[in-house]
Amino acid sequence: MSKTITITGAAGQIGYQLAFRIASGQLLGTDEKINLNLLEITPALNALNGVAMELEDCAFSTLNKITVTDNPDIAFQDTDFSFLVGAKPRGPGMERSDLLIGNAAIFSLQGKALNDNASRDVKVLVVGNPANTNALIAMSNAPDLRPNSFTAMMRLDHNRAIAQLAHKTGVHSNEIKQMIIWGNHSTTQYPDINHALIGDQKINTLVDHDWIKNEFIPKVQVRGAEIIKARGLSSAASAASAAIDHMNNWELGTAEDDWVSMAIPSDGSYGIAEGIIYSFPVTCSNGQYEIIQGLEIDDFSREAMHASESELLEEKEAIKHLL
Ligand code: NAD
Ligand code: LMR
Repeated sequence: MSKTITITGAAGQIGYQLAFRIASGQLLGTDEKINLNLLEITPALNALNGVAMELEDCAFSTLNKITVTDNPDIAFQDTDFSFLVGAKPRGPGMERSDLLIGNAAIFSLQGKALNDNASRDVKVLVVGNPANTNALIAMSNAPDLRPNSFTAMMRLDHNRAIAQLAHKTGVHSNEIKQMIIWGNHSTTQYPDINHALIGDQKINTLVDHDWIKNEFIPKVQVRGAEIIKARGLSSAASAASAAIDHMNNWELGTAEDDWVSMAIPSDGSYGIAEGIIYSFPVTCSNGQYEIIQGLEIDDFSREAMHASESELLEEKEAIKHLL
């Protein structure tokens, strides 16, 4: 048995990290053979052929077949896992919302191609920004696929939050559990540590409220811009790593004592409007995700959660002609 994995924008920065990590078995383990379908726009096919040559030269034991194409119908043929990365990244001084209209058309076309060609059990992760609304566009253009096949990436924000907490409390990041990012992958996202634990101790009893509100939350919200300022380019290796974490947990499950943040079609949980792709805390098992229910939400959190919901509803309004 082998799995077919599609990466769009595969000659780009994130694609260049993602393709090699996936081909080497870091997504599904080294027992699973992989067919890698790499999609690019026509002018980038030369560069993409170079990536394919390098992949061959690695002689990965897990890599079965590489397909290089500029045709979405070929790229999504029987795909089991699709990483929708191809889109324009923002440069210094731009907001993610500046990308909305420019990138939206890509995702309606790719949603249709997924609808017509993908495995009926496909798992789709949208990374290209604005990721949540792009995922909504792709989902809406794929009426024959299950809506819950479409997700957007919040795992980079989740991992960033864990890294900041580990730094602050002096523990290793793998000791921090039950972090949550609510909402949109943008500056309105709400990193919520009210339920986060180190061992059985609540982290919000270990750090002061001012630090959470005035340093931690803004730091996580603008980390993408901080990286762009430092590198002159948007985050790439950390984004690829988070994409693998997201898909790996979705397919193979989350740890028993932990949960992760995934942007998924809202089902109305926690009073968040249906019809948007919103980040919730989830656990995964048997290839399915499930929202953690029943968490106590204080007034500060509720307000922050609704601010991000409002932004997603505005983004939806701006691209409603594509739904
Ligand atoms: P990049 O410019 O290096 O690569 C993007 C690639 O996509 C390019 O090679 C381009 O030719 C290709 N592309 C453009 N349109 C395409 C189409 N219609 N079909 C197929 N390929 C297409 O950019 P990057 O740094 O790899 O970032 C890619 C996207 O990921 C950007 O939108 C960026 O903002 C986003 N991003 C998201 C997160 C997240 O956490 N969700 C994190 C980092 C970056
Ligand atoms: C990130 O969070 O690093 C990416 O979404 C890139 C960006 O535009 O911030």
